[in-house]
Amino acid sequence: MRHLISPMDFSVEELDRLLHLANDIEKYPEKYAHACDGKTLATCFYEPSTRTRLSFEAAMLNLGGRVLGFADEANSSAAKGESVSDTMRVISCYADICAMRHPKEGAPLVASEKSAIPVINAGDGGHQHPTQTLTDLLTIYSLKGRLDNLTIGLCGDLKFGRTVHSLIHALIRYPNIRFVLISPEELRVPSNLHDEVLVRNNIPFKEVVRLEEAIPELDILYMTRVQRERFFNEEDYIRMKDFYILNKEKMELAPEDMLVLHPLPRVNEISVEVDDDPRAVYFKQAQYGVYVRMALILTLLNIAEV
Ligand code: CP
Repeated sequence: MRHLISPMDFSVEELDRLLHLANDIEKYPEKYAHACDGKTLATCFYEPSTRTRLSFEAAMLNLGGRVLGFADEANSSAAKGESVSDTMRVISCYADICAMRHPKEGAPLVASEKSAIPVINAGDGGHQHPTQTLTDLLTIYSLKGRLDNLTIGLCGDLKFGRTVHSLIHALIRYPNIRFVLISPEELRVPSNLHDEVLVRNNIPFKEVVRLEEAIPELDILYMTRVQRERFFNEEDYIRMKDFYILNKEKMELAPEDMLVLHPLPRVNEISVEVDDDPRAVYFKQAQYGVYVRMALILTLLNIAEV
């Protein structure tokens, strides 16, 4: 039995297989419509979500399976003090696979240690969001045709943005990847990611503050929102929240084939006027999230033949 807790849990070869499966699902959805007949997915969300929870549920329903779960800690027995380990032991009696989001870093890992079914980390605090990374990789691979030889600008809240942390971990395994880390000084990537991942692995990167300076050299611009829920005080959030706003004027500085990704939800960091630009692919990215989660469910349930 396998879990998905970190984007590093899959080798590059396994990721390739998963992305190819997701591409096949996109092309021939009818082939997979009964692949999970009789199977049940539990979604245990202790933190708010629109895309991750609903795309997991859509994924399982598209595969012919069923879903159950809770979308709010307050409506679960966590509100009475139950531990994630105990909850997971119980969910194992009701479902075949579980996607869990939790505000505490490491909670899905703890849950997986007591689980009799595969556990998927659907986001743990400011730590990791591996299925968003699978979504991002599928989007880049499908629309750019490669996951190597890319200059990737990561812009916004690089300190608390777990999607950025996971994406860096995943992308450094591909050849000739270069990062431009675009953030205010206070929201730079955490020092462990900077020192132990980027520097230690000799990954080419630079840190800049101005988006205008970085944008002309990018293949991918990955925008992120400032993570209000992770700030210790509201004043700091208010000071930072509109630091970056991608608008039409800035898009004029970008290469014609640059893609703009965003894990969503967006707040103000991408002006709605950018949505009609063919380079803005963040809503397509949300659609890719369903295909890749379908591929992930099949993979973790060991459903090879359809
Ligand atoms: N991208 C993402 O994780 O969105 P949700 O918080 O809506 O799930």
